[in-house]
Amino acid sequence: MSSSGIKSRDAFATTLGAFTATVGSAIGLGNIWKFPYLTGSNGGAAFVLAYLLCVALVGIPIMIAEHVIGRRTRQNAVQAYETVIPRQRGWSAIGWGGLVAAVLIMAFYTDVAGWVFAYVFKSLRAFVVGTTLGQGDFAALAGGTWEPLAWQLGVLALACFIIASGVSKGIERATKTLMPLLFVLLLICDVRALSLPGASAGVSYLFRPDLAKLTAPVLLAALGLAFFKLSLGMGTMTTYGSYLPEATRIFPNAARVAVADTVVSLLAGLAIFPAVFAFGGTPAGGPGLLFNTIPLVFAKMPAGGLFTTLFFILTAVATIGAMVSLIEVPVAWLTEKRRLSRPVAAIVTGAGMFALGALATLSQSPVLSGVKIFGKSFFDLFDFLSSNLLLPLGGLAIAVVAGWLLARTDFQAELDKGFAARPWHTKLMSAFVKFVAPVLILVILLDSLGILRLS
Ligand code: TRP
Repeated sequence: MSSSGIKSRDAFATTLGAFTATVGSAIGLGNIWKFPYLTGSNGGAAFVLAYLLCVALVGIPIMIAEHVIGRRTRQNAVQAYETVIPRQRGWSAIGWGGLVAAVLIMAFYTDVAGWVFAYVFKSLRAFVVGTTLGQGDFAALAGGTWEPLAWQLGVLALACFIIASGVSKGIERATKTLMPLLFVLLLICDVRALSLPGASAGVSYLFRPDLAKLTAPVLLAALGLAFFKLSLGMGTMTTYGSYLPEATRIFPNAARVAVADTVVSLLAGLAIFPAVFAFGGTPAGGPGLLFNTIPLVFAKMPAGGLFTTLFFILTAVATIGAMVSLIEVPVAWLTEKRRLSRPVAAIVTGAGMFALGALATLSQSPVLSGVKIFGKSFFDLFDFLSSNLLLPLGGLAIAVVAGWLLARTDFQAELDKGFAARPWHTKLMSAFVKFVAPVLILVILLDSLGILRLS
């Protein structure tokens, strides 16, 4: 329970619990599936470099801004932005945009999560019968109709069930116990992948940037990925901020979350690219990259099939933590403002997500594969609209609220909480929230629209 006296709201019990839950939201398919896939399709190390800069210069400040606003208001994201600046209710648009983004993200996220759950069973079966999953297996799954839809529905039902059972209990318990295991298994993957002959080409691909590749679309993709991976720009972190204990130190907590999230992404990259190069695959393998590569990493190892299964089990767990945090945004609003019970709110939210999600899933099957909007399938369109547009725009607005409209003293007071005396970084961070983050977001957005030319 928070010390702010709001008794009806659930809250993270401890600072450690708040950290693990935040990490649980941040770490998910963004790290294990999206980071390697986008790195591969955007040319490698230059993208990684741009991504790291976006995390440090934009991601951490925006996370701070969201946590400050969340903890100050202790409300769901829509109401938080409605009330945080007195007499300026228009900022609740950030919360509304966030609800839209949550549904758009979940539409393709649950499709991919469904593939992960399917791969738990497929890899186990392959192990039992003594085969290895290949490219054909992934193509058949993702390009199918009923099979991916059924997995998607199952995954969504599971996540809604967890949400319906309450914040601290549901989220904290699952993430605290299983995240460390995922970390260890990624390390095993890395050792295995790095010891393959020819692995070093994959390492250079990740870490030796060719700066000529830093084009406008690459920069925008890196920015979008930073928002997506850290769960920023749409209210998830505002909502989690509203559950933060008063004693939690906002900047150190945000920095630790960003570091943990980045380490897990790089470990995933180090498991995948060395193997891609060692087996003569192509880095630009698209959304199937993870599913086509991991079985190969383990293929020739003793009990490799079991490791593959374990890998997908732990990825599935990470995925649940992230999905729960996405569903929590609309659910918190529906329960607090619309007075629905948690189970009803979870069902309503899940149904909306499945309606759009089915479009994303079927856009890869013959049913809807011919339908293109702005040249993109529903799957790619939902991803682009949410990660590359709504989240950065939301982040920009959040930076304006926290950095410019919120009283300076209020902002600093939140950042100082948990410290006996004002720490050195409070002023620095407020400058990042006020200037660095919004200017960079604006520059990258304008650059990608062709209004401003960086290169
Ligand atoms: N960060 C999660 C991941 O990497 C996905 C996620 C959870 C998210 N909550 C979010 C993305 C809010 C954007 C906004 O898998």
